[in-house]
Amino acid sequence: MSMMSIRTATAKDREAIRLVEEHAFGQKMEAGLVDALVDSGDTVLELVAEEDGHVVGHILFSRLYVEHGRSRFPAVALAPLAVEPSFHGTGIGGALIREAHVRLKQAGEKLAIVLGEPAYYGRFGYAHERAANFDSDYQCEALQAVAWDEAPESGKLLYAPAFGTELAA
Ligand SMILES: CC(C)(COP(=O)(O)OP(=O)(O)OC[C@H]1O[C@@H](n2cnc3c(N)ncnc32)[C@H](O)[C@@H]1OP(=O)(O)O)[C@@H](O)C(=O)NCCC(=O)NCCS
Repeated sequence: MSMMSIRTATAKDREAIRLVEEHAFGQKMEAGLVDALVDSGDTVLELVAEEDGHVVGHILFSRLYVEHGRSRFPAVALAPLAVEPSFHGTGIGGALIREAHVRLKQAGEKLAIVLGEPAYYGRFGYAHERAANFDSDYQCEALQAVAWDEAPESGKLLYAPAFGTELAA
């Protein structure tokens, strides 16, 4: 019987993470984004899911600020999330999100933002309504937020520099 486990990503996981990202998205852009976020030190939380000792899932949250006048509220951005295609639909993506949320809340994080499919992320508390008043280059129905505590409802979203404009799509 297979056993899925979730743990913090380590330096030894880099190549395995790159492969999962490439397989899941069918391109190298997201793997490159992960490397850039790690290299720049903007990662807040990075987890991997393992099946029988092999990395088959990956999730990354990076630092994002909500800027309001001269103040900057620290929040987190979920991106990317990837599961090896042969394991899709087995609950790994959901397990990664839930475990990450538990750890982020424990660490005192109050607000998370994602740009993704509402039908999927809505299952984990994300809602466009919570993000609709943020000023963002990525503002659209897919921009969603979940708040675990008091956090700004408006302001400009400042992503880590690794998110170049080419990643907006
Ligand atoms: C999206 C992804 C991470 C989900 O991982 P997963 O381990 O297959 O997800 P889970 O097993 O936890 O959940 C599966 C459920 O989510 C649904 N789902 C998956 N992707 C979805 C999407 N894009 N839109 C709506 N629902 C989706 C499935 O239909 C399934 O529904 P069911 O529970 O009713 O059968 C995975 O499909 C993946 O790596 N996709 C390619 C990369 C990607 O798109 N990442 C997200 C970027 S925003």
